Amino acid sequence: MQFTKSQYARLLAEGASHRWVVTGAAGFIGSHLVETLLGLDQEVAALDNFATGSRANLEHVRAAVGEQRWGRLRFVEADIRDERACREICEGAQFVLHQAALGSVPRSLADPITSNAANVTGFLNMLVAARDAKVTRFVYAASSSTYGDHPALPKVEENIGNPLSPYAVTKLVNELYANVFARSYATPSIGLRYFNVFGPRQDPDGAYAAVIPKWARALLCGEEVVINGDGESSRDFCFIENAVQANLRAALVTDPQAVNQVYNVAVGQQTSLNRLLAMMREILQGSYPQAAEVRVRYGDFRSGDVRHSLADTSKAARLLGYAPSHDIRAGLEQAMPWYIRRFQPALAEKVI
Ligand SMILES: NC(=O)c1ccc[n+]([C@@H]2O[C@H](COP(=O)([O-])OP(=O)(O)OC[C@H]3O[C@@H](n4cnc5c(N)ncnc54)[C@H](O)[C@@H]3O)[C@@H](O)[C@H]2O)c1
Repeated sequence: MQFTKSQYARLLAEGASHRWVVTGAAGFIGSHLVETLLGLDQEVAALDNFATGSRANLEHVRAAVGEQRWGRLRFVEADIRDERACREICEGAQFVLHQAALGSVPRSLADPITSNAANVTGFLNMLVAARDAKVTRFVYAASSSTYGDHPALPKVEENIGNPLSPYAVTKLVNELYANVFARSYATPSIGLRYFNVFGPRQDPDGAYAAVIPKWARALLCGEEVVINGDGESSRDFCFIENAVQANLRAALVTDPQAVNQVYNVAVGQQTSLNRLLAMMREILQGSYPQAAEVRVRYGDFRSGDVRHSLADTSKAARLLGYAPSHDIRAGLEQAMPWYIRRFQPALAEKVI
């Protein structure tokens, strides 16, 4: 089931316009949130320091929504480590969708201090600003990395283990702060534990790129595909539209039981890395058969990575009404044309 614009409009109480803040707006998930909100004629104040996000992502949003709706966006280039910038962006806001952070487990292992500054100090700055602005809801990007070394599958929200990386520590600390702010100041928040989100605009470049964009690039550019470990590690890959849906539902849910909670945001479908690669090749087969010839190399397991990941999404379904619209295959089919356009523009003109 596709989550349509009219379904979102109904969620917003037909025609209502609110003031939203999106941090990390030039990034992958943030730019999709901005695009959806502008498409629904919402007022959006957005912030990013371009640490990992890009102006190109914002330009994609502009092209997608058109000039009139783009005019409802106020973009501020600023850093969430700057307390004043956080206060300014939250002024008059009803809903905050806090996405800005430094992602990637290996990045946090290489430089835990910078990850901590953005993900913990920056988070706290935004939470204080949201509290003081008396927002209706502070929705924030939590992470499946919080399950750490807990062995149970599927992952249910209340059973977490020890974090396996500095990144996982920062995301756990976010949840602890949100919880304490709910108790101490009645700041209404919802944490969304994303599981391997993917889709158009996810950065394929650099040492810290996520697996799907990295492999899409390799397959389309004839570069070697490197699999960390034996390829039997598994993830619950979640298409971006599902993450957008979860954010809107978390912001707009009115049931008090649903607030001051954390939720898994995934599909509830376990896919091994080997299966993922096969699926990506199958999807490319018709338009780009050369993808089948790309060399595959099995490398070392990566430190800090969990072996298996699979979400139980029933809490989000029950309390938020969350219903993922795309499974991994549908998501890959929708994402691949974006990678073809990026890495094989000549082919894109013929097949898309
Ligand atoms: N993509 C996933 O699979 C995934 C999984 C779990 C959690 N998350 C979380 O979701 C959020 C968004 O992730 P994404 O995949 O869109 O990553 P992304 O890197 O594309 O987006 C993050 C954005 O935050 C911005 N940013 C970073 N530090 C900042 C700072 N100090 N001040 C202002 N802006 C800053 C970056 O420039 C970037 O635009 C992050 O909090 C991430 O930890 C993502």
